[in-house]
Amino acid sequence: MSGSTLLTVSLLALSAANVVRGDYFSTDPLVDKVVPYDAIPYRVMTDTDDPRGFQSGYNICNSTTETQESLCQTMFVNHIDDFCLWAPAPPNTTISDAEGDVVAWCNKKGHGTRIMPNGAITGMQFVQTPSYIQISGTLNQLLLNVGGTYGGELDSGGQDGEGNPMGGLVYTNAFKSNNGNNASFQQAQHWSFFIGDNQFCGKICDQTGSNPQGLCNNIYDRLGCEYNAPNTATEGVFEVCEGDDMTPVGTYVVNGVTSVYTQPAETADLGSIPYTPTPAPTSNCVTYASAAIFTDAAGITAAGGSASVTASGAAATTPAGTAATNKATTGTAKATGSTTGSGSAAPQTTGSSGALPGAGVSVSLAVVAMGAAVVGVLGM
Ligand SMILES: *[C@@H]1O[C@H](CO)[C@@H](O)[C@H](O)[C@H]1NC(C)=O
Ligand SMILES: *[C@@H]1O[C@H](CO)[C@@H](O)[C@H](O)[C@H]1NC(C)=O
Ligand SMILES: *[C@@H]1O[C@H](CO)[C@@H](O)[C@H](O)[C@H]1NC(C)=O
Repeated sequence: MSGSTLLTVSLLALSAANVVRGDYFSTDPLVDKVVPYDAIPYRVMTDTDDPRGFQSGYNICNSTTETQESLCQTMFVNHIDDFCLWAPAPPNTTISDAEGDVVAWCNKKGHGTRIMPNGAITGMQFVQTPSYIQISGTLNQLLLNVGGTYGGELDSGGQDGEGNPMGGLVYTNAFKSNNGNNASFQQAQHWSFFIGDNQFCGKICDQTGSNPQGLCNNIYDRLGCEYNAPNTATEGVFEVCEGDDMTPVGTYVVNGVTSVYTQPAETADLGSIPYTPTPAPTSNCVTYASAAIFTDAAGITAAGGSASVTASGAAATTPAGTAATNKATTGTAKATGSTTGSGSAAPQTTGSSGALPGAGVSVSLAVVAMGAAVVGVLGM
């Protein structure tokens, strides 16, 4: 069984910890703000009357803010050796507690952000499609301050239109429409990331591409990576692929009939989902050594003194172009109600990643077990 199964486990977003008033919605939502890269304000959030509060970090990030205490809320997804994730500022914090205030953690210096410690990312797939960029993979989440067993969604929508984080901005130089001009950065207005259960995924959509709102829809926050960013990432493998656009999140075809699934309200049981997504085809995959990707992590230690990670092994380098297509994508994903993980995941541990030596298997099994529990237990 491929390690990719791990990424099919659903994550659920919880927002109960934050003050959310159902009667408040921004008149100037983040998703509508057009912010050219050369015109980024100190804080992009403008509403001062949101009962949930105000933007906690800032969007102008530079060498002064490039510390492990950075509160930079401008992030990039450029390449496998130059990407960021949203994660909590304080150590060991759940996404539900931190979602409004998460900050950028990048694997490359130069963005004025925190730097991911060595060993934080243990496998990753970066896919460029005509209309978006998708990243997905496995991680040691405590190294990015993510605590708890339940993950959550971070997106440019947010319950009140301010986004999670409130005022988060996302840029890339890698949209197909940018024609390889690395010096030019485009804002993604529609984006969604999931992190938790030692997994992550994210999609950022090209505003000039096909259906950015539908391809990066943020309303399926209880369904996790399997539905929002179907992928074939495998622990221990770091690869960059071309890919086709997926069908818009929530849209599925059975016997030639196209349907749109609507996620039930947070207060209702999730119940069964009428389809299981198949990852869109990928091609031209190129595999990288993790040591080549996380060069800026040297000397970065984990926050809060927890789990010092110093491993720096190189990832397995499988022949380019074959990896993704050969991977099994069998899904035990919609594990229903079992809290024991059903023993179906023998994680692929070929090749040593830059992760904690020997930690891969136990971490992975824990992921599956917890993920199954999440699906079955949480009916928020
Ligand atoms: C660097 O970023 C900080 C935080 O946004 C800002 O206050 C400061 O003015 C910036 N410095 C420069 C030189 O732009
Ligand atoms: C993280 O927080 C949880 C809940 O407070 C606690 O049980 C756990 O020991 C903490 N883990 C670390 C590594 O600090
Ligand atoms: C742009 O960046 C990509 C990814 O890092 C790299 O492969 C490519 O060579 C760069 N292009 C130029 C013109 O430098």
